[in-house]
Amino acid sequence: MKKVAVLTSGGDAPGMNAAIRAVVRTGIYRNMLVYGVNHGFEGLIAGQFTKMSLGSVADIIHRGGTVLKTSRSRTFMTDNGCQKAFENLHSKGIENLVVIGGNGSIKGAYEFSKSGINTVAIPATIDNDIVYTRSIGFDTAINTALEAINRIRDTATSHGRIFIIEVMGRDCGEIALSAGVAGGAESILIPEIEPDLHQVIEKIEMGIERGKLHSIIIVAEGVYPVMELRDFIQEHTGHETRVSILGHMQRGGMPTAVDRILASCMGKAAIDYIADGGSNVMLSGYDIKVRPIPLQEVIHGSKTLELDLFEIARILAR
Ligand code: F6P
Repeated sequence: MKKVAVLTSGGDAPGMNAAIRAVVRTGIYRNMLVYGVNHGFEGLIAGQFTKMSLGSVADIIHRGGTVLKTSRSRTFMTDNGCQKAFENLHSKGIENLVVIGGNGSIKGAYEFSKSGINTVAIPATIDNDIVYTRSIGFDTAINTALEAINRIRDTATSHGRIFIIEVMGRDCGEIALSAGVAGGAESILIPEIEPDLHQVIEKIEMGIERGKLHSIIIVAEGVYPVMELRDFIQEHTGHETRVSILGHMQRGGMPTAVDRILASCMGKAAIDYIADGGSNVMLSGYDIKVRPIPLQEVIHGSKTLELDLFEIARILAR
């Protein structure tokens, strides 16, 4: 009987639970013994394994967060940490590991695969910054951000105010760009493009000239200090400007159908791949068609943002 362990690692993302469920249920379907590891790589080092059954993943497909819990483990990145994790798996006869997480976790998975444990990664992060794939959690996060933008738009139009909305995304503008286009933002500031503050002012003034007093500016975290941006806008336009930082609310909540379906397909594919004797890959896909890519290729690749969307936003926001 093949044995496989599954863990979630790094920042949680909506849809992780659907992926865990798919791994556990497909594993059992394919006659494997499946273990859940608590608290990500930390739990691997501490030996926190639980044997999973069909019932252990009942009633979780619709829940945000991760029932296995997660961590950003520094210890795992050390030789000792990695060695301890290997010993824990080895002593239980577990030769396969499924890691559900973002870029940091995939790097961890790649390093760990060198120890001899067959490691399969499933991309999950709201940032959508993993190369060759859509990430589980991104669709939910942009819809959450969009809902917030819609609500802020109501009050912005009522008061004729300018709003700066900061969204998450670490070093990547995917959330800002997608939520900004879908939310009809006047300006979108992302890390991939040098911010042009004078263009932001121009856009606001164009609106004011035709009688539109409100404006929505979406800023990806870290691109520009939002309080300074507020002062700059108020100074240059004389218009009341408010700031709203969405923060971690973008990480929680019920996953969308898109994220649940992607997670289900990837979770199943991970187990099918292991069952067929495959090793050391990340599952990649944008919908139900999922394919394996060698971990080595993934960690050496880098994602490029679809800048056509930026051009669309620039033309439409008037
Ligand atoms: O990677 C997901 C993410 O939410 C990023 O968008 C953000 O920069 C980071 O995690 C926040 O990390 P933490 O949960 O450690 O505050």
